[in-house]
Amino acid sequence: MSEISSGMRIGLGTGSTAKHFVDLLGAEVAKGFECICVPTSEATANQARGLDIPLTTLDDIDSLDVTIDGADEIDRDFQLIKGGGGALLREKIVAASSARMIVIADESKLVDALGNFPLPIEVNPFGLAATERAIAVVMARFGAQGGKSLRQNANGGTFLTDGGHYIVDASFGRISDAKALSLALLEIPGVVQHGLFIDLCSDAYLATSRGTIKLSEHIKS
Ligand code: A5P
Repeated sequence: MSEISSGMRIGLGTGSTAKHFVDLLGAEVAKGFECICVPTSEATANQARGLDIPLTTLDDIDSLDVTIDGADEIDRDFQLIKGGGGALLREKIVAASSARMIVIADESKLVDALGNFPLPIEVNPFGLAATERAIAVVMARFGAQGGKSLRQNANGGTFLTDGGHYIVDASFGRISDAKALSLALLEIPGVVQHGLFIDLCSDAYLATSRGTIKLSEHIKS
């Protein structure tokens, strides 16, 4: 909670780690902490409403002071893979509207190179097969070491994002040029967004067996 202060406009992330932060924030709000928040998913919005956390949208305010969110992978340049929970599009819109994005995660998320976690790629259902073929071409060009799959939900149906899109999970193994890969994926017409968060994250707090570390300080030492 050291990154937030009363009166702030806060982006609320999605996922099991961000959920803990929202619970803590709700406890502070109950004690009088003032904030206005933008949730990154319907799940987080529902959680926040249940805790009486005041919510708004990016249509009603033009920027946020900070977003607190989890990550699936983070490297030492603060580049991320996100979207394991399927909220990557709203997460990226909210992070890009924030002066700072702070990641909270356990130390297993810290990696030497991004790509072991399959990259979530949000795609429009229209023309799915054409989009998947184009993604396969990009994967081959970037030396992907694994395949890709259309994300399923727990009932065996196709997973739908809050925006009504599908997610293709693409296994790269190791992503050597995240910026170039990002641009290549965004050039595919059916790709709505992807889970590479480049130059969006300001810092990270990682839970380790020795306590919580701030990644920027850990890198310096
Ligand atoms: C949600 O779409 C994701 O970006 C999550 O932020 C990410 O998957 C981390 O989730 P956990 O905190 O549950 O590991």
